[in-house]
Amino acid sequence: MKVLVIGSGAREHALCHSLSHDPDVTALHCAPGNAGIAGVAELHQVDALDGAAVAALATELGADLVVVGPEAPLVAGVADAVRAAGIPAFGPSKEAARIEGSKAFAKDVMAGAGVPTARSYVCTNAEEVADALDAFGAPYVVKDDGLAAGKGVVVTSDLAAAKEHAAGCERVVIEEFLDGPEVSLFAVTDGDTVVPLQPAQDFKRALDGDEGPNTGGMGAYSPLPWADPKLVDEVMQTVLQPTVDEMRRRGTPFSGLLYAGLAITGRGVRVIEFNARFGDPETQVVLARLKTPLAGLLLAAATGLLADLEPLRWSEDAAVTVVVASRNYPDTPRTGDPITGLDEVAAEDAPHAYVLHAGTRRDGDDVVSAGGRVLSVTATGKDLSEARERAYTAVGRIRLDGSQHRTDIAAKAAAGV
Ligand code: AMP
Ligand code: GLY
Repeated sequence: MKVLVIGSGAREHALCHSLSHDPDVTALHCAPGNAGIAGVAELHQVDALDGAAVAALATELGADLVVVGPEAPLVAGVADAVRAAGIPAFGPSKEAARIEGSKAFAKDVMAGAGVPTARSYVCTNAEEVADALDAFGAPYVVKDDGLAAGKGVVVTSDLAAAKEHAAGCERVVIEEFLDGPEVSLFAVTDGDTVVPLQPAQDFKRALDGDEGPNTGGMGAYSPLPWADPKLVDEVMQTVLQPTVDEMRRRGTPFSGLLYAGLAITGRGVRVIEFNARFGDPETQVVLARLKTPLAGLLLAAATGLLADLEPLRWSEDAAVTVVVASRNYPDTPRTGDPITGLDEVAAEDAPHAYVLHAGTRRDGDDVVSAGGRVLSVTATGKDLSEARERAYTAVGRIRLDGSQHRTDIAAKAAAGV
C-alpha cells in the first residue's frame, strides 16, 4: 500500500513512524513533513491547505491512502478533495470537521446526541459575555469559537481577564467549569462503526505542576493506571457512538479520528471538546502501544470497512512522551537554533526511546528549531516509571539553546497518586 501523510508535526512523525514499521506499506510519502519525517518518508513540498494540490500529488504518486493529520486542512476540505479524486482519505469532510472547527457546532451536536458536556452559552457581545460569566461564576471558562490550536481557551478566576479574552474573539463559548482529571480518548470511525483506541492523558499547561498558560500539549502518557477499567466502554456508549450516530443522522457522517477530550468529574464523564484528528502529543503514546498494523486500520476507516476489522491488539507496555519546546513558547517562540544530541538518542536509547520531530528543519548539515513545539521524545517501558526514566534520559541528551520541557510528565500516575 502506498500512503501519503499530510502535515508536519510530531503527530505526523508518529503516524509515519508507525506506518514505516507496517509490512503492508510499500511506499511512504509526507507533505510537507519536517526534518525528522524525512528519515522515514519521502517529502513533497505541497501547501497542506490546498485540496487540489494535495489530490494532484496523491494521484501522481498513485497513493492508495491519504492520511490528513492536522485540523486546518480538514476544515479546509482537503479530505473531500482527495476523495473526489477517487482516492481513499483518512479524515473527515469539511462539514464533519466542524465538530472541531466550531465549538458552538460541537455543542449543538452534543445536545442532539444527548452527550454529557459542560453547560454553555454562545456570546457575541460584551453584555452577553458579562451575563454568562455571572451566571456560572468563577472559575471562568472562555473559549474562542474558532480554531485556535488549543490556545483559544482561557480558564481563570480573574473576571477582568475573562472579559478581556472574550473581547478579543468574534464569538465565544462561555461554559461551566469542569473539575476533575482529564482524559483523551481517540476513536477511529468510518461514520458507522466506532473503534476506540487506548486512553491517554495530556499535559496542557506550559509549566510543572500545571502552572503557566495553556499550550498545544507538553507531554502525555498511556495507559492510565488510575482510571476505571470500564471508562472506555462507558465513553463508547455515552459519547463516541452517539456522536458518530448523530453526525450521520444530520447528513454529515464523520469518518476518521474522533478525539474526545473528557473531564472525569464527581458527577460523571463530561466532554470538554471534540477534535477531528489525532491529538498531539497523545498520539505519540497511543501509537507506541498499538500492535495492530496502522495502515490497515486507517484504510478500513477510509473505505467504510471497519466492521470487518479484527479487534485491535495492544502492547502491555506503558508509554510516555515529553515535548521539548522553544524559548518563549507558547508566546512567539524563538526559532533557528541548532538541535544536537539526536544521534546520541538514536545510538543509546533506541528502540525504547526515540525522537519525533515537530517544528524542525534542515539547515545544511544541522537540524534547527522551526516552531514552538520542537520535538517530543517518546519512550516505552514495562510500566510508567520505566517509560518516564527512559524518556527523560533521552531528553537529557538533547541540546537546544533556551529550550524548555516539563519535568513532571506522568510523575503522579507513575507514583500511583
Ligand atoms: P479545549 O481547547 O476546549 O480542549 O480547552 C483547553 C483546555 O482548557 C482543556 O484541556 C482544559 O484543561 C481547559 N478547559 C476547557 N474547558 C474547560 C471546562 N469547561 N472546565 C475546566 N477546564 C476546561
Ligand atoms: N493534545 C491536544 C490536542 O491535540 O488538541
